[in-house]
Amino acid sequence: MSAKLPPTGILLELACGTLQHALHIAPSHPDLIWQPSDIHAETLTYGANIERPTNVRAPIYLDVLGDHWPLAQADAIYTANLLHISPPSIPGALFGGAQALQVSDVFIYGPFLVEGQETAAGNVQFDADLRRRNPEWGIRSLNDVLTTAGASGFRLLDTTPMPANNLLLHFHSA
Ligand SMILES: C[S@@+](CC[C@H](N)C(=O)[O-])C[C@H]1O[C@@H](n2cnc3c(N)ncnc32)[C@H](O)[C@@H]1O
Repeated sequence: MSAKLPPTGILLELACGTLQHALHIAPSHPDLIWQPSDIHAETLTYGANIERPTNVRAPIYLDVLGDHWPLAQADAIYTANLLHISPPSIPGALFGGAQALQVSDVFIYGPFLVEGQETAAGNVQFDADLRRRNPEWGIRSLNDVLTTAGASGFRLLDTTPMPANNLLLHFHSA
């Protein structure tokens, strides 16, 4: 999975949480600078204080829905498990931010509803649970995400099935 990430440059991770993905993937990409970000203050403090691989920076505050992303440059964006725990406007904000930063590649990890494919029972339950917790949350339709990506100039390059009914989507700027 991580083999598709660019080998060098700056990768901006959105909604990094406890840096699980950075700690797992970044060591096998030693020449890639991994810049995590999140909005949650405790998460940022936690990430700043744990031992990190040398190519993983301390996380910064970045609200995907905010008007200003506090970063001048990035080559790629990675995010995991954000789209279903956010309002439906998040994919548009994500790809709009990616376009503004002129990144070449966007990687999105998580569950999706794939049109024409039966949704795994686990994801049906997960979706119902998310919507109960917050009516704005829910597993997103892959088609909707593709349309949103296209509006910001990104096209789907590759889809990789991941454990627990997740997908890794790789978008490239068209
Ligand atoms: C389910 S956690 C996923 C954490 C991590 N990516 C992972 O997979 O382990 C969702 C994360 O999204 C962050 N988040 C929610 N809304 C956000 C926003 N508007 N901008 C940036 N991060 C956001 C939360 O603070 C939380 O850390």
